[in-house]
Amino acid sequence: MSAIESPANRLWWKQPLDRVEGMWIAIAFVWCLVMFFMMPYWHIFGKQNLSNEAYRTTPEAYMAKTQAMVDKYTVRVETDQKIPVVHPPAGSDVYLIARLWQWWPMIELEEGKTYRLHLASMDWLHGFSLQPENINIQVHPNYEHIVTLTPTSSGTFGIICNEYCGINHATMVSRLYVVKPK
Ligand code: CUA
Repeated sequence: MSAIESPANRLWWKQPLDRVEGMWIAIAFVWCLVMFFMMPYWHIFGKQNLSNEAYRTTPEAYMAKTQAMVDKYTVRVETDQKIPVVHPPAGSDVYLIARLWQWWPMIELEEGKTYRLHLASMDWLHGFSLQPENINIQVHPNYEHIVTLTPTSSGTFGIICNEYCGINHATMVSRLYVVKPK
């Protein structure tokens, strides 16, 4: 019998189960259960699983909220593109825009303080990747993702886009500053 031709016994599924076959099915089933329960387990006890929220929004509505924060809390501008660096008060909502091919604005947070970081795209799919922390969030247009975060160390962190978004994807990089509270 070959795999190409029809089986000689067309009722092959009615044959008794071989012991080895049954064992493999049992092992595979148990492993499925292990994998299944590891998902909630890692969500609670893992270190990199974020309980984030997502809400519908529009580029216009999201831009308006971001612009209001930038107008209020910009402390300086950086790079040739004159990207504002925003230092919002501890505990506040912080807005970050992903668009072709830029993160806007730059954000400065204080160590040990909790913030609600909002993320949304103005055009299409981008990926927020915080380095070297390895926090990764897909950033979709028309959705506002919110991550509650508390920086545990100060320094300059890198933000890169980790979803291919076109010709200048590789230049879509930014910084996140974490400073000691004054
Ligand atoms: Cu944005 Cu890749």
